[in-house]
Amino acid sequence: MEIIAIANQKGGVGKTTTAVNLTASLADKRKRVLLIDLDPQGNATTGTGLSKNNLELTIADVLLDGVSLQEAIIKSPAGFDVIAANRELAGMDITLMGETNSHELLKSAVSELIAEQGDKQSPPYDYIIMDCAPSLNLLTINALVATDSVIIPMQCEYYALEGLADLSQTIERLTELNPKLHIRGVVRTLFDTRNTLAKDVSKELEAHFGDIMYKTHIPRNIRLAEAPAHGLPVLAYERWSKGARAYQKLAAEVIKQSSSS
Ligand SMILES: Nc1ncnc2c1ncn2[C@@H]1O[C@H](COP(=O)(O)OP(=O)(O)OP(=O)(O)O)[C@@H](O)[C@H]1O
Ligand SMILES: [Mg+2]
Repeated sequence: MEIIAIANQKGGVGKTTTAVNLTASLADKRKRVLLIDLDPQGNATTGTGLSKNNLELTIADVLLDGVSLQEAIIKSPAGFDVIAANRELAGMDITLMGETNSHELLKSAVSELIAEQGDKQSPPYDYIIMDCAPSLNLLTINALVATDSVIIPMQCEYYALEGLADLSQTIERLTELNPKLHIRGVVRTLFDTRNTLAKDVSKELEAHFGDIMYKTHIPRNIRLAEAPAHGLPVLAYERWSKGARAYQKLAAEVIKQSSSS
């Protein structure tokens, strides 16, 4: 089993779109996947067809009240397992201020899930995908401590590299607590091939990140923006759209990484 956090503290770069559609594409390739929403905005929750306002158990219950992940798993209308989030998660930093191990709560919950459900012979999932909030707050730190690797969605625009130093530095620092932690890949999102600036920034990213850039570019595609309004991953909404095909290619790259490591 591999755990992947989708993170970038910059807002609106396609983290949630990537988390939901990568999960759906992996599930479509017969992988067992759990999607964990770690953002009080709950966009991944609504994007998989769940209603934010009548959830029995959310990730907040797991992190703040010691409910097990196993209990909080919801079979989403999208067809795969989800741990949902909503506004109850906001203010977690303050609630947990001063508590020891507050950065390891998710890691403990995941270990418990593996022990409980895995029954030693086989882990319960092939992948756990975590959708992070646009911040380097305690929730994101919990994700980075619990995960094996990080996928960073980046929009190819002028300010793309700004703030990335903070994320890289945070990842670097957290390797002390989580020696496995590394950047698995950077994925170009909301990509417009006709835009010269995007092409220039894309080249700059390749120079900066080299091998860890995914070959797949996620194009700006209206179907990707429409699908969440229907509570569906794009694969279920418009299977043959450019956006759906791009996320299928990205999933294939992710699976290939798994088999070659
Ligand atoms: N490739 C794409 N083509 C068209 N629209 C997209 C694409 N990717 C994302 N969007 C749209 O752009 C907006 C921001 O995307 P998304 O919510 O995935 O970003 P985010 O990084 O998760 O944002 P936040 O930082 O608020 O969590 C959304 O309205 C989404 O539907
Ligand atoms: Mg988001």
